[in-house]
Amino acid sequence: MVSMAVKVWVLMALMCAGLGLGADDDDAAGGDSGGISRLSAPNYSDALAKAITFFEGQRSGRLPANQRVTWRGDSALTDGQPENVNLTGGYYDAGDNVKFGFPMAFSVTLLSLSAVEYRDQVSAAGQLSYLRSAIQWGADFLVRAHTTPTTLYTQVGDGNADHQCWERPEDMDTPRTLYKITQSSPGSEAAGEAAAALAAAYLVFRNDTDKTFATQLLAKSRSLFDFANNYKGSFQSSCPFYCSYSGYQDELQWASAWLYRATRDQKYLDFLQNNQGGSSNEFSWDNKYPGAQLLATQASHHPIRIVSSINLQYATTATLVLFVYSKTLSSSGDKVVQCSAESFSPAQIRSFATKQVDYILGVNPMGMSYMTGFSSKYPKRIHHRGSSIPSIKVLPRKVTCNEGFSSWFTTSDPNPNVHVGAIVGGPDGKDQFPDNRGDSTHSEPATYINAAFVGACAAALGRNQLQEPVDDIASVISSN
Ligand SMILES: *[C@@H]1O[C@H](CO)[C@@H](O)[C@H](O)[C@H]1NC(C)=O
Ligand SMILES: *[C@@H]1O[C@H](CO)[C@@H](O)[C@H](O)[C@H]1NC(C)=O
Ligand SMILES: *[C@@H]1O[C@H](CO)[C@@H](O)[C@H](O)[C@H]1NC(C)=O
Repeated sequence: MVSMAVKVWVLMALMCAGLGLGADDDDAAGGDSGGISRLSAPNYSDALAKAITFFEGQRSGRLPANQRVTWRGDSALTDGQPENVNLTGGYYDAGDNVKFGFPMAFSVTLLSLSAVEYRDQVSAAGQLSYLRSAIQWGADFLVRAHTTPTTLYTQVGDGNADHQCWERPEDMDTPRTLYKITQSSPGSEAAGEAAAALAAAYLVFRNDTDKTFATQLLAKSRSLFDFANNYKGSFQSSCPFYCSYSGYQDELQWASAWLYRATRDQKYLDFLQNNQGGSSNEFSWDNKYPGAQLLATQASHHPIRIVSSINLQYATTATLVLFVYSKTLSSSGDKVVQCSAESFSPAQIRSFATKQVDYILGVNPMGMSYMTGFSSKYPKRIHHRGSSIPSIKVLPRKVTCNEGFSSWFTTSDPNPNVHVGAIVGGPDGKDQFPDNRGDSTHSEPATYINAAFVGACAAALGRNQLQEPVDDIASVISSN
């Protein structure tokens, strides 16, 4: 569980969305000119591969034979048993061992978005099969968590008890309490996000020869959307963790936009058109307005003019949205976006977004990559239980709740297991990073931070453009 503050990186990106475009899914990267690559850019291909690998280290359940993160073992094999449901699998959220369905679904949506928007780049980097596996691992869990038309399991594990222990997932002995939303205790945010995730994942798997999984994804997505929409209610069951502050309207828009993209069924477009509005200064596990409006832009073939000012404060999600936005803009008739008195071209937006990626990968005052295992200088003491205690393969005896704290949490030694690809909370406002395990704000990774970065890396990899000046964007941003 990562606190709100974690995701506030140094940069605030202001994106003005003056939308109303007619566009389809196709990349218009051909609009870019040139092929001048910058000197000494980070190796995006390597970063992409590592960002995806991270998800294997977060896996819960029985690990497959082709598991590459070998310091992990099987864990939580009886999740769901008290209610006779198979809730094994899925992802541990961050540096803890709880499975939070709401942000997990958001991660699946972002990974799928990355696979759909940047399929060619991911494929060229040899990562498509790994990305598909990462999506499948989460989507399969969400499918199984939606057990009846009006039931969705939203959390496995008692968050408080878990956070009071420092244990490897393989040793876990805290209560694996089940939380769910139902007709009488609804949660349209969680159901809506799960609907979005499964529709987005459907787009990744729909062309497979074996249609079984894709068919299941789409059916469950439609069902979850109906549940979210017919039983409107705010998500309370998982509080105090991942309570939604933005309400559920953003998830309903986001889900209907994904379902429309997946099905072209008019009813989802009608829903979108009848449920416009809402704006936000962030794009995050809680707030999806910017993403929903981006998809609505791609979907609408007539000029619904959605005007909003989006101040994105979460760097990886913001960066991904900026990339996709610039791509959408390139493929539309509008060649610039107007922000107050300034206007920016897609290439400028892309260039700005690439700088965010570069910053995270080490082009920053510390010269530190904030992705674990990337380049020669990276965080060595990440706030992550499994990474900071020796692997079960090396130390097979049980490490208890308290021993984890006394023997491993408090040391200043580097983590014994390098959690390759994990992106931490990052530096403070002065670009400083203490690399201290106890400092969860700056040192904890989280699945949804990584999920957004997968797409951002893929987009940076596919960038093939002239360098355009971005200083003016930065000044507009800092003056806002
Ligand atoms: C980038 O990383 C990939 C994967 O690790 C590697 O195969 C490739 O050689 C690297 N490229 C450069 C230019 O170093
Ligand atoms: C539970 O689901 C997992 C993942 O799909 C599957 O591998 C496992 O066989 C299932 N367990 C049971 C008891 O059905
Ligand atoms: C998958 O199939 C859909 C239509 O069924 C098609 O529009 C799309 O281009 C295909 N995608 C890929 C990546 O082949």
